[in-house]
Amino acid sequence: MSAVQIREATIEDANAVFNLYRAVAKIPGGLARLEAEISHDYIAKILQHLALSGLMLLATNNSSGEQRVVGCIHAYTPALYCFSHVLSELTIAVHPEQQGTGVGRLLFSGFMQKVATGLLHIDRVELISRQSNRKAIEFYTSMGFVQEGEMRGRIKNIDGSLESDIPMAWTRSSLTK
Ligand SMILES: CC(C)(COP(=O)(O)OP(=O)(O)OC[C@H]1O[C@@H](n2cnc3c(N)ncnc32)[C@H](O)[C@@H]1OP(=O)(O)O)[C@@H](O)C(=O)NCCC(=O)NCCS
Repeated sequence: MSAVQIREATIEDANAVFNLYRAVAKIPGGLARLEAEISHDYIAKILQHLALSGLMLLATNNSSGEQRVVGCIHAYTPALYCFSHVLSELTIAVHPEQQGTGVGRLLFSGFMQKVATGLLHIDRVELISRQSNRKAIEFYTSMGFVQEGEMRGRIKNIDGSLESDIPMAWTRSSLTK
């Protein structure tokens, strides 16, 4: 994992994020969205939303002489007062060629560091992962996330089979335990 850098995303990163999500979604079993469900409009909306009330970090790799976006993590605060202390729908994606090389852990640690020390109004970060994505669930557990139940049959796989979606959350109060 040489020369990977972490930075905040800007609206100018829309194309790079689009290409990354498309590449990751090609492989079923990870992201909820299918490749065809990742549109420029979807990415633009995430970035606009984030500019108002969220956080997106990118991992870039300059090993080939140019800065290439190889990973992305983001979450947003829903626009209701009762959720103003929450970062929701956390999503992380690392380019298939870079998976398993430490990029995801670097991104996630950078994200949680920002939340823990910079976003002091955030008391809760939440995500959902399909049950069969065991590696991802173990990874989130190692980052301090706790399983909060099981949404049975919520995910329809590409072969038509159903599986559970697993809600997980990190809470600031866990830092003091
Ligand atoms: C899940 C994901 C973000 C992890 O990022 P990564 O860069 O591959 O992970 P890292 O190399 O930093 O390893 C971190 C942990 O993730 C797990 N992991 C490694 N490769 C993985 C893979 N291909 N898929 C899922 N998890 C993986 C390992 O448990 C690892 O733990 P370890 O450090 O104790 O060995 C990445 O594999 C990915 O984008 N997968 C496809 C999309 C996806 O599943 N997103 C999550 C939807 S909820």
